[in-house]
Order: sequence, then C-alpha cells, then structure tokens
Amino acid sequence: MEFSIKSGSPEKQRSACVVVGVFEPRKPTLPVELLDKAAKGYISDIIRRGDMEGKAGTTLLLHNVPGTLCDRILLVGLGKEKEFREKEYCDAIRTAVKTLNETGAFDGTLFLTEVGPKRRSVAWRVRQAAMLAQEAIYRFDLYKSKKNEIRRPLRKLTFAVERRNELHIAEEALNQGLAIAEGVTLARNLGNQPGNICTPTHLAEQAQQMAKTLGLSCEVLEREAMEQLGMSALLAVARGSRQAPKFIVLEHKGGAPDAKPLVLVGKGITFDTGGISLKPAAEMDEMKYDMCGAAAVLGTLQAAARMALPLNLVGLIPACENMPGGNATRPGDIVTSMSGQTIEILNTDAEGRLILCDALTHAERFEPAAVIDVATLTGACVVALGHVATGLFANTDGLARELLQAGEEAHDRAWQMPLWDDYQELLKSPFADMANIGGRWGGAVTAACFLSRFAKKYDWAHLDIAGTAWKSGADKGATGRPVPLLVHFLLKRCSSSSSS
Ligand code: BES
Ligand code: MN
Ligand code: ZN
Repeated sequence: MEFSIKSGSPEKQRSACVVVGVFEPRKPTLPVELLDKAAKGYISDIIRRGDMEGKAGTTLLLHNVPGTLCDRILLVGLGKEKEFREKEYCDAIRTAVKTLNETGAFDGTLFLTEVGPKRRSVAWRVRQAAMLAQEAIYRFDLYKSKKNEIRRPLRKLTFAVERRNELHIAEEALNQGLAIAEGVTLARNLGNQPGNICTPTHLAEQAQQMAKTLGLSCEVLEREAMEQLGMSALLAVARGSRQAPKFIVLEHKGGAPDAKPLVLVGKGITFDTGGISLKPAAEMDEMKYDMCGAAAVLGTLQAAARMALPLNLVGLIPACENMPGGNATRPGDIVTSMSGQTIEILNTDAEGRLILCDALTHAERFEPAAVIDVATLTGACVVALGHVATGLFANTDGLARELLQAGEEAHDRAWQMPLWDDYQELLKSPFADMANIGGRWGGAVTAACFLSRFAKKYDWAHLDIAGTAWKSGADKGATGRPVPLLVHFLLKRCSSSSSS
C-alpha cells in the first residue's frame, strides 16, 4: 500500500473516501464540522437522527455527500472525548482501515490523525497510524490454496495534518512508521511460518538475504565454530535435533567506527518440544513461535538499517530446535557453558536460557554499550503479565527506564520485574554451579536471574515476550512485538547521542 501526508480541508479532498471521527454522544470533531458546513447540515442531520452516536467501534459510510469532492465519507465512532487516549486512538485507526479495506474504496484520506490523544504529538499520531494501518491489513495466507481475496483492496492511504508547517515532521514520522511496520511484518511472517519451514537454516538464510539487500554484514557460525567457542550449553539443546544449529551474527555499522555497539540477542528456538522433558500435546503447535525473539531482532535490525540509524548495532541469534531423541540431553546432565560456569540441566524444557547464556557470553566480544535479549522465555511470565505487557528485567536502572519509556511511546509496553538476589538462591545445584530451573514459583524471575549470571560485564536488559509475541484463539498469530518498543528505544538513543 502507498502512503502520503496532506494538509487541507476535508471538504476539498478528491478522495474515494474521507475518514473523520465523531465523539460520544453525537459530538462531531472539527473535520466533521467542516464537511457539514460544506454539505449544509447534511451530516449533522444524520448525527442528530441517531445514526452515528459516536460509540467506539461503530462506523457509518455515507455516499455522495453534497458540497464535498469525495465519493464517500466514513464516520468513525471514537467514544467519549474525555476517555480518548492511546488505546482508543489505536482502535479507531484499526477500525477505519479495516472498514476502508472492505468498502471498495481505492484510496482513503484519514482525518483521525488530526484528532489523536491530546498529549501526543502529530509525529506520534502519524507514526502510529502508519504502523496500525499495516497491521490492520496484514494477512498470512501463504499456505491457503484459495486466498481470501478482497475484491478491491485499499491501495493508497493519506494522513491529514492540520497545518502546512506540520507536513515535514509528519512525513518523517510516516517514514519511521513504515520502517517499523516493515520490521513488524518481517517478525510476524517469520513467527507464523511453521517449524518444518522456519528451521535454524531458514532463519540464517533470511538473515543473509536481509544483510545483502540492506548492506548489513552477516556471519553464520556452524556447529564446529560453536564447539570451538565452547558454546556447550547451546549445543546441549541442539543435540536432539536433526536440524543443524546456527549462530547468526548481523551487524549494522551506522555509527562512528569507535562507538560501542548496542547488542540485541534473540532466542531462536525454531520449535520447542521440551526435549526429553517433553511438553504436553495440547497447544504444542504454538511452540513454533519460540523463535519470536530472533524474529524481533531481525525485524528491528531491518527497520534500523532502512532508517540508516547512526548507531552501531549487533544482532546475535542462537538458533536451534529443541527435540527429544537418542542423542538428546538428559535431565541431570551437566554442561560447561562458554563462560566457564557449569550448569545442571534438570529440565530440558528450560532450553531458552541455555542458548541465551552462551550468546550473552559471546556478546562480550563486541564490547557492547548495552545488551538487550528478547525471548519467549517462560510460561510463568504469561501467568504474571498476561498478553498485555512484556516482562522487563535489567541490571541497570537507567537502561530499564529507557526501555519502559520506549514501550510507552510505541504503545508496545513492558513492565519491570525484580532481579533481587533473594531469587538467585533458587538456582542452587548440589552438583554444578547452578541448575537451569528454579522451582515452581517466580519462574519468570528465576529465568532472568539465570541469565543475569552471564551478563555481569555490561549493562543488560532482558525482555520476556512469552505473552506478547503471539496471540492464541481466533486471530491466532505472531504480533511482531517488541519491534516497535526496540526501534523507539534506538530512535531515542540516536537523538540523545547527536544532541550531546
Ligand atoms: N518456550 C517456553 C516458554 C513458553 C511457554 C512460552 C508457554 C510461551 C508459552 C520455554 O522454553 C519453556 O518451556 N519454559 C518452561 C520453563 C520451565 C521448565 C522452568 C516453562 O515456562 O514452563
Ligand atoms: Mn522450553
Ligand atoms: Zn522455549
């Protein structure tokens, strides 16, 4: 789909459909008033009659409204003005784009960007609208032999801004929004691919292809290289599978040559059966999403490269499959991680931390400014935070704050959880330096505590996205989170490093 920005009054738009908002109860926004004036009260009549009350989620499509130049006007209910905040704005944009896509209109001009939540800037409204529009039209029908084709899908979307002097800022925001949306789409596509297609090799190929198109450097370490580096914890997970493990290293060198890089680490378990500690059958298919951390790192790097962010970035993706088998790791096995610390693997289903710990040790080689890992790490995090907030853990308050803020800004929110020493005790093992599980309670925290033992040499944060990376149920599928959070974090880092 094509996107653009425009300033100008709604009644003068030569558009297939002009989209404007109505608050509850029956309270037109400014663009509606302008249209209504040109139409000599035609729209206010309709509103007065009660055909559009302004309730959130409702829409009303009008054709050939007198005095206007557009073919259609779509009225979108926004709910109560006092309660119109980020979530309501996002819902309204989604509703508008979905409806537009189904009306047969070839293009649409959205005036909802002029209304937006009060405390948000024009840039925010446009950036968000671009992302939401792409999200709303996303489909994954690669494997449907009959595609559910829309007869005349929406081809072009224009966002309106009130003043001409906002055009420039809005255009920049639009480009950012589209870059983020592309990153989100990449992450969703990879997540939605089944485990028989999206193997570690597939992930490596995708990374290499992306590197080629965007001018990143990409190196893929094979099993032998990992053995040489001493990544025995990672290889202990890969043992049971016929799929070759891959360790992907992607680099975007947009910053000064001597600037320390930010390192993003993504869990890339392309399917998690649990290994010998086999998972129950119900919903095991969802473990194809266990590489969503890796997908988010790829999506974030793609967005960063597209925007040519003036930063040095490294993406590290340990990728393998967690399978049972004759050669698989047994509960009770002890391995020596790359860091030299020994681990008693009491449960082979706690495999994410085993591949991540070696990746975190490897991250030291890049002398990072900070390291952020992203992982569908624990079911316990889903119990704690549901599907709304990503779990955030950090060994530095400043980094935690930055990420929380980025999440707010992107409306892709995280919530900080504790990393207190009191929890570390739960990882004691009688035979090794630590066990890979911490018992029944506080599972998201003990998993993060485990990782923290490998992240002592730099500022580090961990995002547990087990609850936010995908949706179950009717609209099952990968969400692409936390790509928006991460890109906003990077954008903020750029603006603060150039102003200092
Ligand atoms: N990939 C899972 C985490 C997960 C589970 C994500 C359910 C989303 C939904 C992870 O590898 C895992 O199996 N974790 C175990 C850890 C336990 C054995 C300590 C879990 O959460 O049950
Ligand atoms: Mn597991
Ligand atoms: Zn897993």
